[in-house]
Amino acid sequence: MGNCCQLLLIGLLTLSIFLIKPSSSSKIIRRFSYNIERKNVTRLCRTKKLLTVNGKYPGPTIFVHEGDNVEVKVTNKSPWNTTIHWHGVRQLRSGWADGPAYITQCPIVPGGTYTYKFTIINQRGTLWWHAHLSWQRATVHGAFIIYPRMRPYPFSAPVEAEIPIIFGEWWNGEIEDIENDMKLYGSGPNSSDAYTINGLPGPSYPCSNKDTFIQTIEQGKTYLLRIINAALNDELFFAVANHTLTVVEIDAVYTKPFTTKAIMVTPGQTTNVLITANQVPDSTGMFVMAARPYLTSVFPFDNSTTVGFLKYKIPNAKITKTPAKSFTLPSNLPQIEDTPFATKFAEKLRSLGSPEYPCNVPKEIDKRVITTISLNLQDCPVNQTCKGFKNKKFYASMNNQSFIRPSISILESHYRNLSNTMFSNFPGRPPHPFNYTGVDPLSENLNTEFSTRILVVPHGTKLEIVLQDTNFLNPENHPIHVHGHNFFIVGRGFGNYDVDRDTKYYNLIDPPERNTVAVPVGGWAAIRLTADNPGVWFIHCHLEEHTSWGLAMGLIVQSGQHPSQCLLPPPDDFPTC
Ligand code: C2O
Ligand code: CU
Repeated sequence: MGNCCQLLLIGLLTLSIFLIKPSSSSKIIRRFSYNIERKNVTRLCRTKKLLTVNGKYPGPTIFVHEGDNVEVKVTNKSPWNTTIHWHGVRQLRSGWADGPAYITQCPIVPGGTYTYKFTIINQRGTLWWHAHLSWQRATVHGAFIIYPRMRPYPFSAPVEAEIPIIFGEWWNGEIEDIENDMKLYGSGPNSSDAYTINGLPGPSYPCSNKDTFIQTIEQGKTYLLRIINAALNDELFFAVANHTLTVVEIDAVYTKPFTTKAIMVTPGQTTNVLITANQVPDSTGMFVMAARPYLTSVFPFDNSTTVGFLKYKIPNAKITKTPAKSFTLPSNLPQIEDTPFATKFAEKLRSLGSPEYPCNVPKEIDKRVITTISLNLQDCPVNQTCKGFKNKKFYASMNNQSFIRPSISILESHYRNLSNTMFSNFPGRPPHPFNYTGVDPLSENLNTEFSTRILVVPHGTKLEIVLQDTNFLNPENHPIHVHGHNFFIVGRGFGNYDVDRDTKYYNLIDPPERNTVAVPVGGWAAIRLTADNPGVWFIHCHLEEHTSWGLAMGLIVQSGQHPSQCLLPPPDDFPTC
């Protein structure tokens, strides 16, 4: 980092006067305190000790305003290591607070505390937070809501109320066992036993009638649903019977509004929709809302549907016992394999691109990286039992590199200049080009290499990453998430990416901006970002099973010349390994 960071300490003093003084009237410190603790929770007539924040499942919602300084003191009262990630928060120069274990930080040990400090810069909308170690995020997650400070919402309808809708997955078994078995036997994880809406599975599951999400609304009024997919392994369709949804924001970025009968939302993504109570209810006033997976897998998965209700306030309504057992699923809810719907929906997403909220997509790029995203099979080590396909072990990779997390903080070793050669050298092209989405890629070598490869780029690089799905084992729609940056989805398609052909059709006017992209099944997506956030950033599939198998890489953005382009020094209470 050289000069830049030595200057920083002096710079910092000046800068803090410069930065904090003039805006001190608007800059507020929002303080929160999180106790990570185990708590008994019952669903589907099973009582389990869940890892929670402050005893809540899902966890508490954070409300802040654009521009706020946020401080969350996390105290680990659980028997396991943990970390918290603020999913989608840009963390400009504050990578120390990003949270992914062994990427930016060492875990908070049992009994330990760490205060995450960061500022919300130029973001507004719905994000979320979750644990970022093992599969803890199954239960340790919640909404992170940023209200705009300067301007009202850029959509016309007055909003009566804002309603978070968080999807999750429930297992009757212990999450730790499911993850450990999967790693031990190299198999796919046991499917979840239910999907949930705000922690509630609803009446489509056994012993679950009383655990149903019901939201009361008023005739004629418009509501903002803040939808978050916190499920571990499943992309989801969501619809409300008889109602259309108007999409207005994704991943805390405004979109050109459009109406739709349903949405598709991947783990890691958020979607804000407006819904108007404009239907004629029956005597119960109830309308079904439902979410079911979007999946094309040949492997077993949870194909169930979670159900909740919108309930119109009607005078003298028939008092219904919670809730009608005999509900009908919304006819507008897409079927599990509805790739055409998922495709059309993705095509409708466009940045708002207004003078107030311009779309700053890089029109030219400095660097293009092309990477496969792939499942892999590895031979079973001798004297082991493997339960993956063909009794081998499942892995996953990017450019045939299956990511191994080290047992240190990569960010810290980068900052202290300890790691120049240890990591780095993520291959910029697939090592052995082949027909990625051809009919028989099984004839290709399925073995992957294990490494901690990281892509290193100078500050300010205008970077394009092309994510190419492969047909190894099973083509899938992978939700790829980038930490520390938003990106623009400039192109997507089915089959193999062809730079000469496909760049011609890029959208460089109003592509959607977000932090997690659904790469089409058996296809590709091209994303562009300006690497303006110095630090070490995790890039990975937000299907937890794939991350566990190694579908991940790192991105190092070097500090720039100017102090404002440098990573800040680590906080005093930064955890050590
Ligand atoms: Cu939701 Cu690595 O993050
Ligand atoms: Cu994946």
